[in-house]
Amino acid sequence: SVNDRVDDLMTRMTLEEKVYQMCQYVGLEHMKHAENNITAADLEKNDALGFYPGMLSKDVAKLAAEGKIGSFLHVVTPEEANALQELAQKSRLKIPLLIGIDAIHGNGLVSGSTIYPSPISQAATFADDLIEESSRQTALEMRANGMHWSFTPNIDVLRDPRWGRTGETFGEDPYLVGNMGVATIKGMQSDDFLGEDHVIACAKHLIAGSQSVNGLNASPTDVSKRTLFEVFLPPYRRAVQEADLYSIMAAHNEVAGMPGHMDKFMMNDLMRDRWGFDGFYVSDWNDISRIALWHHVAEDFKQSIEFSVNAGMDMNMHGPVFDTHLIELVNEGKVDVSRVNYACSKILEAKFKLGLFENPFVDLEKAKAVNFSEAHKKNALEQARRSIVLQKNKNNYLPLSAKGNEKTIFITGPNANNQTTLGDWVSPQPEENIVTMVEGIKSIGETNGYRINYYDSGDRSKEITEENINKAAYLASHSDIVVLVLGENSFRHDWKRKTTGENIDRATLKLSGNQMKLADKMFAIGKPVIVVYVSGSPIAEPWLEQRASAVLNTWESGAFAGQATAEILFGQVNPSGKLPLTLPRSVGQLQMIYNHKPTAFIHKYNTEKKVPLHPFGFGLSYSKFQLSEPKVSKTIFSGLEDEISVTIEVSNESNVDGEEVVQLYIRDNISSYTRPVKELKGYKRVLVKAGETQTVTISIDAESLAMYDADFNFVVEPGDFTIMTGNSSADRALKKTTISVNEKLVLDKNN
Ligand code: IFM
Repeated sequence: SVNDRVDDLMTRMTLEEKVYQMCQYVGLEHMKHAENNITAADLEKNDALGFYPGMLSKDVAKLAAEGKIGSFLHVVTPEEANALQELAQKSRLKIPLLIGIDAIHGNGLVSGSTIYPSPISQAATFADDLIEESSRQTALEMRANGMHWSFTPNIDVLRDPRWGRTGETFGEDPYLVGNMGVATIKGMQSDDFLGEDHVIACAKHLIAGSQSVNGLNASPTDVSKRTLFEVFLPPYRRAVQEADLYSIMAAHNEVAGMPGHMDKFMMNDLMRDRWGFDGFYVSDWNDISRIALWHHVAEDFKQSIEFSVNAGMDMNMHGPVFDTHLIELVNEGKVDVSRVNYACSKILEAKFKLGLFENPFVDLEKAKAVNFSEAHKKNALEQARRSIVLQKNKNNYLPLSAKGNEKTIFITGPNANNQTTLGDWVSPQPEENIVTMVEGIKSIGETNGYRINYYDSGDRSKEITEENINKAAYLASHSDIVVLVLGENSFRHDWKRKTTGENIDRATLKLSGNQMKLADKMFAIGKPVIVVYVSGSPIAEPWLEQRASAVLNTWESGAFAGQATAEILFGQVNPSGKLPLTLPRSVGQLQMIYNHKPTAFIHKYNTEKKVPLHPFGFGLSYSKFQLSEPKVSKTIFSGLEDEISVTIEVSNESNVDGEEVVQLYIRDNISSYTRPVKELKGYKRVLVKAGETQTVTISIDAESLAMYDADFNFVVEPGDFTIMTGNSSADRALKKTTISVNEKLVLDKNN
């Protein structure tokens, strides 16, 4: 068995060799695609300066050949992956390398991969099955390219959309985030990730970095234990218990004075001992050293390692010196050898299960066949179609008529004709693989008899000049319809122009740069303006939405963004995406979340409304749906295993087929601690043909009703619960009924 093989190998390993398994380094070509035919020999003689100060590239190659490296990250070609494995095969024990990569929505750092919509878009689909399937496909692409471990899913529950990584999250709802996280892990790991078609998933970042002060990445947070358990931790518990998650990445930030990388309660006592996490932890980037450097709670790197490994950390991302310090710490009795044994055995277990000892290499031809293959493209397009949210449609302006009659559509805006639609963690992709907004609209628009006129108004702040705006205005005035493609830019390899993304947080939710000046000019012309947003972060521009004829929020919808958007504009696809976060009107409203506590909006602002621009779960359709009152199978919930079914009739009272996302929210009416005014506990996406009615059933179980009591037992308290169903979280969209619980139920004790 795998366990026997691990035990056998461990008996033949020295302490040093075990520690080396805990060491990760960045790829020798660090994210470079240039040397496609690179070999181990090339790496061994490369005397260019490497990634690590004082080390040449060949010095790191030597470490790999000596078996002193257990894992690499950010290797982006199968050739380099093979070359590194070749180095590892020269070592005494020939232990293969575990190669990790941020395959966040497709294996995007690898050129030629399938780029699925960003996680925020994926959440907007409310279609877990599509996400599970694309994660399975991503695993296939990764394995074909020599990568075995994806640093995904990001199950940070969004609380502050200023955080630049908003697009990498599944939004603000713990239940939706949990579902998407579980789907991603199941798709990637499948059954125990045995064999060559699967990879290890890595949930991140433990914990609560999505509620950092000031919205800045890595800054501290001070959430209570109650908020941790109610908001941030549920997706982790589910990832571990429902999907057998195999790795977790710690967070940059501290919570109430405790840096994530040395939080023993979180990593060990709760996750491992209480909730059964049976995999390994990896640090984020240089965060072990930052225990000393940033947080100032250790004297130096060595002491940081001591604190981190003792708290439960198993692998250092990334670089030298970790090994020498840790070996010393064990020899000095400051770290128990059992920690090293545990970490090493879990890393080896992964390598055995993944089949790396049988064959660490990949067939280069296979990579070419698997990347961007037909089934993968199909899923990417399906996700894009379902993720786009129609936020406004004045007098049913959309869809545009299928008969263009030579009308001219003028397209402009910074995200109109480039790869910003791909989002973060993506390298530039071959142009032929990507449908930009202009390409999509041109292709379908021209087929429908429209003339399409695109003008590049400039890219981002400084470049949208007065002159460009005037030229755009002239062209718009000679057209019939204006499509403005606005938004932000998280495209990783576009550092100069990025306005959001990792380590680029937003001080405002308004459109950056001169985009509003461009929009103002377009509105002044008086032609109908369709606004298409491309952004992983929400855009809060109420005034713009008021004036637009239609607003399509396309998030970052991946390789086929332009096609899916055009299909929606011209009515070939009926929009059905729903907002996975509350869209605030302004940054001053933050924290603006739908699942807030009862007193959150008792009082008023002096200069701002207290309602959002759009509520969580909201999204328009070309169909007209009517949702019935919810009917419950019974009104008394009794016993841990009990379930109540809620049925809702969805009628499509229009002549267009459409998909609707039926949502179920629950409120605990009177509780021992305050509870949110509503919480999503179920949803179903359903296709309803024109003029037809479908019945949707969503079930409520004990977990749907549970909360943490004073002793952090996970319980259902007796009393009444309001059940609300509808097609958005807005009160006006919800219909209600009540169920009751007669006696206290205990799901889990003493967390
Ligand atoms: O996986 C990421 C993490 O989310 C942020 N810091 C870098 C890691 C590796 O790229």
